Amino acid sequence: MARREHFGGRSAAILALAGSAIGLGNIWRFPYMVGQMGGAAFIIIYLISCVLLSLPIFLAEAVIGHRTHAGTFGAMEKLAPGTKWKWLGLLTVVSPLIILSYYSVVGGWSLGYLWQSLTTGFHAGEIGAVSSAYGAFISSPGWPLLCHTLFLLGCAWIVSAGVKSGIEKFNKITMPLLFVLIVLIMVYSLSLPGAAAGVDYLVRPDFSKITPSAVAAAMGQSFFSLSLGVGTILTYASYIRKNENILATGLGTVGFDLLFALVAGFAIMPAVFAAGIEPGAGPGLIFETLPYIFSKMGVVAPALSAIVAVLFFVTIACAAFTSAISMYEVGVAYLVEQRKLSRRKATALIFLGTWTLGALCSLSFGPLAELKLFGLSLFSFCDMLTSNFLMTFGGLLFVLFVGWKMDKAVVRDEFTAGGTARFNCAVFDAFWFLLRYIAPLAIVIIFITNFFA
Ligand code: PHE
Repeated sequence: MARREHFGGRSAAILALAGSAIGLGNIWRFPYMVGQMGGAAFIIIYLISCVLLSLPIFLAEAVIGHRTHAGTFGAMEKLAPGTKWKWLGLLTVVSPLIILSYYSVVGGWSLGYLWQSLTTGFHAGEIGAVSSAYGAFISSPGWPLLCHTLFLLGCAWIVSAGVKSGIEKFNKITMPLLFVLIVLIMVYSLSLPGAAAGVDYLVRPDFSKITPSAVAAAMGQSFFSLSLGVGTILTYASYIRKNENILATGLGTVGFDLLFALVAGFAIMPAVFAAGIEPGAGPGLIFETLPYIFSKMGVVAPALSAIVAVLFFVTIACAAFTSAISMYEVGVAYLVEQRKLSRRKATALIFLGTWTLGALCSLSFGPLAELKLFGLSLFSFCDMLTSNFLMTFGGLLFVLFVGWKMDKAVVRDEFTAGGTARFNCAVFDAFWFLLRYIAPLAIVIIFITNFFA
């Protein structure tokens, strides 16, 4: 069998992991949640849950991947051969592919909007007109399907080129670009008249909004944002070289993800308030509100607003691509390692499967709108199933596996880079405690909250 590929070094690994983490979740979910749930008070809770909950879970997944140098299924077979844990390996092959299917639909929309911003632009009108243009776009069968196909083909092209010349190279170029773009957009947004109200919305601490469900929402968001519980972190960590410091890599990734979410908040909310509209939730924020803002600004400064619109949709598309390829790779790693397919064949097979499910999700906004599962459209069902249940369930099992099934000495060895990393040795006991007791408890709380929400 061909030698397993590795990332070039720590910075390459952090960029790839941050590429997986930074995505649509940072751009449309985080800024909206912050404003709705207590501003700076929510940010503090979010920070705490990143460090005390998500970082330990991230490290648990990374320990498994890094120890075994295998994808999710292979890792379970190596660490717990012939046991029921193989089902965790399989679950975490399937769940990222379900996410990828509908994520690619939204990624496709960003390509469609990028095309529009490059060609016709967004025309000034009422917010209602922009919303109905969005509604008409996503419910038409042709365009979104074409965009979904192009988005997924882009992912396939990157993944088929391999871990080093595909995934690593793409993230190395895209991630720095993404930071530059979002900072530029933030500067533009902050310079608009009336931007201060948006800043206020994000930073004014309102502790009365910190209810138990806001805390659960903060934990859930840090979970989604760090791509936990679906084997993407495990798989990428399996490409990190043996002697690398896992804790440093984890801290770097969490830090970048957090920083990007904050900057995205200051890039989006000031513009939303400057245009005098109420921020809405979900994809509507980027596909309805923002085009409306661009069209409004276009009246005053057409050239500048056209450029910002292009930059904005390039940013969203890039953020979506770097996350989507990490989900894609989980499936490819499984087929290459366990089913002995070539990387090309594996990529093609994953394309077929995710394209089909994604196409059905895309059509569920239009021709297939009547098809309901538990009262939800196929798109919403896949989203709800994965983000509310499969991610948390997978995360819980990973944490229980590392904290209660794996040998503590092995985990310590991984965590401390064979005892050579002094800082890691000093904090190992805290990590172990968080992993064994706090993380499972917190995940169960998120799970229950999602169930009754
Ligand atoms: N973390 C990504 C985001 O914020 C989403 C994601 C989930 C990526 C699961 C990979 C796996 O958009």
